[in-house]
Amino acid sequence: MHTFSSLSERVTRAIDSLNFPQSPEFLYRPVRYALLSGGKRVRPALLLLCADMFLQKIEQEHIDVSLGVELFHCFTLIHDDVMDKADLRRGRPTVVKKWGVNTAILSGDAMLIEAYKLVCRAANASALLAAFGKAATDVCEGQQLDMDFEQQPAITEEQYFAMVGKKTAALLATAAAMGALAAKAPAADVQRLYGFAHSLGMAFQLRDDYLDVYSDAAEFGKVTGGDITAGKKTFLFVSTAAALRGQERGEFLQLMQSSHLPADEKVRRAKDFYGKANAAQRLKDTESKLLDAAMQNLALVNVPRERKEPLTSLALTLLQRTK
Ligand code: IPE
Ligand code: IPE
Ligand code: MG
Ligand code: MG
Ligand code: MG
Repeated sequence: MHTFSSLSERVTRAIDSLNFPQSPEFLYRPVRYALLSGGKRVRPALLLLCADMFLQKIEQEHIDVSLGVELFHCFTLIHDDVMDKADLRRGRPTVVKKWGVNTAILSGDAMLIEAYKLVCRAANASALLAAFGKAATDVCEGQQLDMDFEQQPAITEEQYFAMVGKKTAALLATAAAMGALAAKAPAADVQRLYGFAHSLGMAFQLRDDYLDVYSDAAEFGKVTGGDITAGKKTFLFVSTAAALRGQERGEFLQLMQSSHLPADEKVRRAKDFYGKANAAQRLKDTESKLLDAAMQNLALVNVPRERKEPLTSLALTLLQRTK
């Protein structure tokens, strides 16, 4: 049986053997740089595990589709780093930091197009493309909400989950569904796997929000505290704003909107408020609930129980991750 880590390595090898042209150099060098820089390969591995669950084998067309999903993901990261003004990803300068905005736009576009071409290689490409296109639209909508919320002093937990459901969970959910679709699984099971990975995807973003504040920067590979300095409405923010009252809440919201403080001081003071509101604990409690919801969907999938083990272990691995 395949595991997350064996498939993740297989995906990386397959990406390595994609033959991007050498020229124009400043189109394809950033593409290779973004694709081969130590990503976890969560979405393609999830897709392949879902296909394997029904077929008990992985064929080249499944690999192609999984690469399409990973290229799409890496494209979203390049453009996300432009929007989030992020300097560091996977422990290295971002494409935008290294080559500038124009290169980030165009090399991202090239990856997006290549992603669609890879999905088109599958025998049942039209069903896969419909799902993929829907997810791509969701990601755009989620990313726009994420930016809109930067400008708002506060948002509700419901708004937060609507945003995360689109910017992050939609692609994980669709990766799982595409694996099942590629394996010609029954529609009900495709839906259950979508539900499984959607809940998991929400939990995945909660963990990302947590790591953005509390991780070891060298391990996480991104600038810690970046969400606080950018005014992002993360789960820690939402949960703190909901827990605090009166003057204290006012001071918190004012701090989070301020742009004059040195970054490290803003981060330190935000963390004090998060601590008072017990936000990290609430985040972990919410993660557990989402994991339970994910597992309930997985339990309903109509295959022998032992075939679900790799997905169960993937879910647990993702929630214990440090990067
Ligand atoms: C980062 O995704 C963006 C989020 C949705 C939080 P990953 O954490 O999967 O990034 P890589 O591909 O492993 O670097
Ligand atoms: C991830 O949001 C969503 C997408 C990339 C579509 P973040 O902005 O939190 O992702 P990171 O932390 O930069 O990887
Ligand atoms: Mg970002
Ligand atoms: Mg972002
Ligand atoms: Mg983040």
